[in-house]
This record gives sequence, structure tokens and C-alpha cells, in this order.
Amino acid sequence: MDLVKLGLHGKSILRLLDLSDEQVLGLVDLAAELKARKKSGANLKDALLYRKNIALIFQKSSTRTHCATVCGVHDEGGYTEYLNSHDLHFGKKESVKDSARVLGRMFDGIMFRGFSQQTVEDLAKYSGIPVWNGLTDEWHPSQVLADFLTIQEHLGSLKGLKMAFVGDGRNNVASSLMIGCSKVGMDFVDVCPEELSPSQELLDLANENAKRNGCKITVSHDPVEGVKGANILYADVWVSMGEEALFDQRLALLRPFQINMDMVRNTGNLEAGKVLFMHCLPAFHDNNTEVSKEIGAMEVSDEVFEAPFSVVFDEAENRLHTIKAMIVASLA
Ligand code: CP
Ligand code: NVA
Repeated sequence: MDLVKLGLHGKSILRLLDLSDEQVLGLVDLAAELKARKKSGANLKDALLYRKNIALIFQKSSTRTHCATVCGVHDEGGYTEYLNSHDLHFGKKESVKDSARVLGRMFDGIMFRGFSQQTVEDLAKYSGIPVWNGLTDEWHPSQVLADFLTIQEHLGSLKGLKMAFVGDGRNNVASSLMIGCSKVGMDFVDVCPEELSPSQELLDLANENAKRNGCKITVSHDPVEGVKGANILYADVWVSMGEEALFDQRLALLRPFQINMDMVRNTGNLEAGKVLFMHCLPAFHDNNTEVSKEIGAMEVSDEVFEAPFSVVFDEAENRLHTIKAMIVASLA
């Protein structure tokens, strides 16, 4: 991969909207290269992030994004420091702007997960070093890169396929997938209750890209019709981090939108082996978590989650290779 041509050196990656179509595809290709390089046992003397210091600021919980950043940076000879938001002055005793200016004097880059998109934008603006968005209330760009790498590995391409996101159609993952699909030429249908529809502004942005790339971006409130022809059924939790108070309301709205075997059959692609189940994880597919112990499966049935066409753990692994690609693109 020609990192100069990719054009992300010294830059932050905060939303897929800010990247060109070529940069989105280029990051997926770079991740595939870095994955192959790791599997082949690359020599650490060629490490791409040698002596780079990366700070992690996580205001919300994380397993995949946190571990992918740590392992990705360490694989390439860099160092990570997890800055527990309880210990940091960040935004409490010190403004985001001032903390950003301090961190920018010490670190080479920052992986941030938090609530407001404005915080990650300010962090990037004032630190003067690359900042990567590891999820905010609005966007989850690094997730989508991992999803695209996984789809490419299983179905051989991105362009010309159809993804149905089923659930809370206006959450960070749904919005990021919509923009991502519009940039790589994949049809995208947001299958959701009317109350959880994406904004018209977002649809307009996605449609502008889709016109250029020959794909369709649509919304459906019908969980039967909406998934017809889909090659990818994609689920996320019904209640995102920070929205816990809405739990009962979401459950009532989203019950008819569970991805189960009936829905998979309704794609019409099961027999031909042309359908994947995807989920960013963590998922409520059984009663083995504190949250789901009374309720059981929510957004996906256990049968679908464990089915041969479910690629959720490939997706999780690919978080490592794609987050590494983002950091390498900005710093190597
Ligand atoms: N998919 C995802 O972002 O997982 P984590 O919340 O575990 O980081
Ligand atoms: N929409 C979810 C994604 C978790 C990876 C959330 O924000 O909690």
C-alpha cells in the first residue's frame, strides 16, 4: 500500500464522511495487508509504529476497540497508555482544549471513545496530533472498516452487494454503515421502526455518495419486505451505551425486528449461501449476561448468532487489523 497516496499521514480519522471513497477502500486494503503481514510473522525490525506513544481515552466501556488498539500498536513496536477517565482531569478539572494541548506535547496519537462527537473533534483540533474515533454517540467509523474487511474476505467484494441493518436505525453503527456503504458502492437498507429512523440530513449525504457509486440507500419500516435480497443482515444492540434509561421503550419498539431464522430465510439468499450475519458485538443472543438474564435473546436469536453464516468473531478479529491500519495510515 502506498501510504503517501492514501493521504492520511498526520491526519485524524473521526468520521467516514471526512474520507474520500478511495481512502475508505484503501484503509480496508491496508488492513488486509497488515493482517497478512502479521500472519506471516513479520520481523519487528520493520515495525511501522516503532517508538510511537499512543494514548487511549475511553469514557465508555470497550473490549474490542480497547484491545485492538493495544495489540495493534504493540504488534508494530509502539507503546500504549490507557488513561482511565476516572483518573484524568479531562473535561472535569481541566478543559478538553487544555488537556488536548498537553497530550499533544507527549503522545503521537490518541484513540478516543466517548459521548459527544464535539469532544473528539476538539481533541483533534487542539492536540495537533492524529486522533482516531473509537466510537461516539454519533459515529463508529473503525467498526465499519472491520466489517468491510470481513465482507470482502467472505463474499469477495463490496460493490454490488446489499446490506440490511436491522434495529435502531439512527444509532452510531447504523449511521456509519450507511455512509460507508454509500462510499464503497454497496446497497444499504436501514430496517427500523419509524420512531428510530435516520435523519433526512444523513440520508441526503449518503444519497449524494450513492449516486456517484451506483448504489441505493433506503429505509424500510417492514422487517419482512425490508430484508429481501440482502447479502448481509447486520444487528447492533437495541440500546446503545448512554441510553440505558430507554431500555423498556426500545424493547417494545424493536421486538418485531429481531434477526432470527425466519428473517434470514426472508432474504431469499440462504439456500444459495449468499447471506452473512454480522454484529459489531457485544450481542444479546442468549440469557448469559447480567442484562439479558431475564429477557434472553434480543436483537438476534442464538440460532442465528451461532449459525455457520454468522461471521461475528471474524469481524471482531478484524477490528485489530483495521484499527492498526488507521493508526499506521496516520503515523507510519
Ligand atoms: N464493537 C465494539 O466497538 O466493541 P467494544 O465496545 O468491545 O469496543
Ligand atoms: N451502538 C452501540 C455500539 C457498541 C459497539 C453503542 O454505542 O453502545
